[in-house]
Amino acid sequence: MADIRKRIGVLTSGGDCPGLNAVLSGLVRAAAGFGYETLGFHEGFEGLLGEGRFEVLTPESTQGIMQQGGTILGTTNKGHFVAKVRGGTSTRVPSSAIEQAIATRDRLGLQGLVVIGGDGSLTTAQQLWEAGIPIIGVPKTIDNDLDATSTTFGFDSATACVTEALDRLHTTARSHKRLLVVEVMGRHAGWIALHGGMAGGADIILIPEIAFDLDKVARTVRKRDAEGHPSTLLVVAEGAKPRDGKEQVQAKGSGEYKLGGIGELVAREIARRTHKETRTCVLGHLQRGGAPTAVDRILGTRFGVKAAELVKEGQFGQMVSYQNEEVGAVPILAAIHRLRTVPPLSPVVKAARAVGISFGD
Ligand code: F6P
Repeated sequence: MADIRKRIGVLTSGGDCPGLNAVLSGLVRAAAGFGYETLGFHEGFEGLLGEGRFEVLTPESTQGIMQQGGTILGTTNKGHFVAKVRGGTSTRVPSSAIEQAIATRDRLGLQGLVVIGGDGSLTTAQQLWEAGIPIIGVPKTIDNDLDATSTTFGFDSATACVTEALDRLHTTARSHKRLLVVEVMGRHAGWIALHGGMAGGADIILIPEIAFDLDKVARTVRKRDAEGHPSTLLVVAEGAKPRDGKEQVQAKGSGEYKLGGIGELVAREIARRTHKETRTCVLGHLQRGGAPTAVDRILGTRFGVKAAELVKEGQFGQMVSYQNEEVGAVPILAAIHRLRTVPPLSPVVKAARAVGISFGD
């Protein structure tokens, strides 16, 4: 490898998300401008283990990736560096994994390590920073649930996917006079359901932050029928729960719970109460795949450029953050101490109610 005096590393960790490649493209270009070579580690933190698995990223090798979905580096939300388990409880990354990451950093002479990740990955990043690795965090998640940043790239693309799906589902629901229940992602936050549901003209939106009453949801469906609207589009966030009910968990692995199943439950219970023909559609990973929207390409690029600036300025332990139209920085700790969920009295929820959308409460 060439004799480089300044070198940084970057990795993408956790669930993939449209806009990750835009961050990489922005980072590599800005870092090269500051005289840094960038090493891209494969499969998240796992690439730091042993001899290290990485490739040199250059402005030439990353040409044209900005508009691609996924991540050219690969990623994982499992492995040796998991720092959030079950419903989001923090845990310590084993010291053997942290020691290997430190050794890789020392051997390659990394002057900074940029970690692009969500809540769980940034919790790992904070532990590596506390262990002495110069970390810069970049917030990533379609769920939009990170505190200390008003939005994350990926959210707009996921919302656009839900909107397009609802536009399609409207026509078939109307033709058959059915209730269509659409389950969307978001983990413990209802941002995707709220924004996607509003933009796609949902009649009922159920989110984790507002416990719903199945009888009231059924009443809304019946009322719509009586008022001459025989089809209903209901969007339910995967983490939503009925009053006195629990989140629907599909699988429990080594990391966080895998949510899923609330769509089927709601469809079954409302069909039982209304005798209405009902279908369920789980959008799943469609929301994470595909090319990023223009908003996410620009936000991702700006985040990558800011991360390079933070490395140059030596502002480690910081995370890139978006507030009031500005890209700035906050301590990583500020972003991971709690999830940013939908305030039940937020102006968006109020506007949704004002146009007649029911939250089932
Ligand atoms: O955090 C992003 C997210 O897409 C969540 O909305 C969803 O619950 C989860 O990841 C799905 O993870 P996996 O790709 O492991 O199924």
